[in-house]
Amino acid sequence: MEKLLIEGGHSLNGTVQISGAKNSAVALIPAAILADTSVTIDNLPKISDVDILAELLEEIGGKTELTDDTLVINPENMFAMPLPNGRVKKLRASYYMMGAMLGKFKKAVIGLPGGCNLGPRPIDQHIKGFEALGAKVTNEQGAIYLQADELIGARIYLDVVSVGATINIMLAAVRAKGRTIIENAAKEPEIIDVATLLSSMGANIKGAGTNVIRIDGVDELHGCRHSIIPDRIEAGTFIILASAMGDSVLIDNVIPDHVESLIAKLREMGVMIDVADDSVFVRANHNDLRSVDIKTLVYPGFPTDLQQPFTSLLTKAEGSSMVTDTIYNARFKHIDELRRMGANIKVEGRSALINGGPKLQGATVRASDLRAGAALVVAGLMANGITEITGVEHIDRGYSDLENKLKGLGAKIWREKLGEKELSDLKNS
Ligand code: EPU
Repeated sequence: MEKLLIEGGHSLNGTVQISGAKNSAVALIPAAILADTSVTIDNLPKISDVDILAELLEEIGGKTELTDDTLVINPENMFAMPLPNGRVKKLRASYYMMGAMLGKFKKAVIGLPGGCNLGPRPIDQHIKGFEALGAKVTNEQGAIYLQADELIGARIYLDVVSVGATINIMLAAVRAKGRTIIENAAKEPEIIDVATLLSSMGANIKGAGTNVIRIDGVDELHGCRHSIIPDRIEAGTFIILASAMGDSVLIDNVIPDHVESLIAKLREMGVMIDVADDSVFVRANHNDLRSVDIKTLVYPGFPTDLQQPFTSLLTKAEGSSMVTDTIYNARFKHIDELRRMGANIKVEGRSALINGGPKLQGATVRASDLRAGAALVVAGLMANGITEITGVEHIDRGYSDLENKLKGLGAKIWREKLGEKELSDLKNS
């Protein structure tokens, strides 16, 4: 196991290239199961979630070949192998194996990861959708069993706007008989990306990116080639980093519309940002930031996945800022760590009140989840002295080459192996 070390206080300059979207990749890879011939996915981020999903496809008989940022998936010999345990439990997004395997084989057994660091993350809406399409769904010893004689299109109203449920129902419905209508669907860009891949495979989907998606089932789907959209959360994280410590930073390969809510808030704080067709240039004003309030919402609102890194930035803004997460009520695990670094933050219910101003101090902190890790990297770059971050495996799950990208901007960041004592402290914690 490793830890990240950051010597804070150095300003960032230069250009950073944004990789393909993690939250698209983790859906597109399972989606390839639905095809009958090879699917090639380009612009993949180099993250451990991608490796695990490729291994899962091998477990069910697929052939995969990952070179650089391209994955070729040959689904010809895949079969409905039950996956109640093992790798499947390593990442939450393996729930997309349910929709894809159900759509292809009319059955699936998928183990679910246990409780997650963001609080309860139910999948009742995914199951409601599968049942509406005609599947029998049971939960036995932590694995979901799905079985259908036939999948038949249905009208499904989501009680909660859910990215995962919207995508999972699309995956199950593209090869169902007849028309499926998903109402109150999520509108995130990753949903459009998945619909684009499925359409290139021959699916008939209309309305992805709006709150009503119509799918006319087809009998067969074929292989295709697809390039993933840029990761708006990685882009947002770098925009926040540049706002915190940048003199002039160009964040390249971005769809600026996808980060509009973030840019609006940063401008409100006094950050100077220029937007071009596919890049964002931050001319930071980082010694004179104003406090702001944010509330996370479904897309196109302020994304919950940027709430944690944004909170770190707010510790630098003079005055009080309020952060409210309406999507996850327990996404505040980074706050104890920020307090260790000297931040003055109070959490009440779904909100955190940040009294910004005093400079953070380097400390030893632990990333409890992916975006908490990003928050600590932002904090470490801002702080005086050295910050040591453990729990790096969470960061490696979702940020492609973070250290090298930061080094390229002039950050002092490196990795070290954990010592014996740190390993035993970790075991006992
Ligand atoms: N929800 C339900 N029932 C369901 C599904 C969701 O009550 O059946 C609730 C959740 O508890 C949550 C809200 O609905 O309060 C939204 O959850 P959603 O289903 O949209 O989240 P998800 O699909 O599980 C994806 C991203 C998350 C991101 C959320 C919200 C992937 C693999 N994950 O999760 O990304 O936070 O959408 O935008 O796409 C991350 O990247 O760090 C991350 C956690």
